[in-house]
Amino acid sequence: MSDRIFTPVTVGSLTLPTRLIRSATELFGSLPDGHVPPEEIEIYRRLSREPLGLILTAHTCVSPEGRANRYQNAFWDDGYLPDGQAITEACAPVPCVMQLGHGGMKAKGNNGGLPIYTPDTMTEQEIRELVRAFGRAALRAKTAGFGGVMIHVAHLYLFSQFFYPEFNHRTDRYGGSAENRIRIAAECAEEIHAVCGDDYPVLMKLNATDRDRTPEYERDVADALRIAEECGIAACEISGWDSAPCVITEKPYFIDVVRRLKEKVTLPLIEVGGIRCAADVEAVLDAGAVAASVSRPLLCDPSFPTRLRGEEGHRSPCRSCGFCFRPYPERGRICAMHRN
Ligand SMILES: Cc1cc2nc3c(=O)[nH]c(=O)nc-3n(C[C@H](O)[C@H](O)[C@H](O)COP(=O)(O)O)c2cc1C
Repeated sequence: MSDRIFTPVTVGSLTLPTRLIRSATELFGSLPDGHVPPEEIEIYRRLSREPLGLILTAHTCVSPEGRANRYQNAFWDDGYLPDGQAITEACAPVPCVMQLGHGGMKAKGNNGGLPIYTPDTMTEQEIRELVRAFGRAALRAKTAGFGGVMIHVAHLYLFSQFFYPEFNHRTDRYGGSAENRIRIAAECAEEIHAVCGDDYPVLMKLNATDRDRTPEYERDVADALRIAEECGIAACEISGWDSAPCVITEKPYFIDVVRRLKEKVTLPLIEVGGIRCAADVEAVLDAGAVAASVSRPLLCDPSFPTRLRGEEGHRSPCRSCGFCFRPYPERGRICAMHRN
């Protein structure tokens, strides 16, 4: 086993003690008012004992109308500060970054009847207010001790909807070119830096593939990544349209996209998806990523990083079955393979 996985790497002003990241993973178990349940704090506490470089939180909603599902954690006012503090205390000494997002159309039926934001219907005033909400949530995250924030531009939530031409038909400066379609996320990054300071780390998670994996969309992603770098984003986690397929694949899902993008952009990239063994992490680093993110293997077995480091050839027993996507109150345990 090469030691490279367990060596530090710096992205922006954030130093990751290893190159293995716990990607943003929702428990689907928040309390009805959006507070973080004790089970989730325990998950973070357990992960803090692992040789991880970074823990990303579940995606957390910055504004009530954007609640993506009725089990999603909220962070839209100071009443949620203690939840944030409990997370950062549980994660220490592993650095922790809060993922911030807005559900957009996915908030339908989950936001208590508030207006639904879509790329086509949002007014410029609503966009400005939402950008400010991201800034306020990031400042709250900084106060709670998070080492940075990640803007969720993946998985068909609002900013991902903005970036897919099939969901964004605007003709103003938020629609059309890749530059325009990524503008709302870029403005959030600028707002967060204005509020939290230029050196406060802002990361992004972006879908780098569309439904048909077209080269046109991938070219737009490269443009968006150049813009992200210009506006001070420290790194981008690369996901895609089919972000968590319930099948076992031979290689990490987006490794080829990362390799091609790295020929075009200098922004540090992180691959997420389908990493199940040390050879997968090595392959992702060889493809040019600075780090590798895992989600389901850590739900299946939180000691996955320790095993990768200590057991030659270890492979996650995760079957990618999708059980972990069911609401926690219904499934009653974290993973089908794991009697927790
Ligand atoms: C139960 C569950 C919850 C997830 N929640 C989030 C989330 O809150 N934010 C996010 O960006 N991705 C989320 N994801 C996607 C993962 O971060 C990751 O991109 C995807 O699962 C592929 O990685 P894997 O093959 O290691 O599971 C979630 C995935 C799972 C399985």
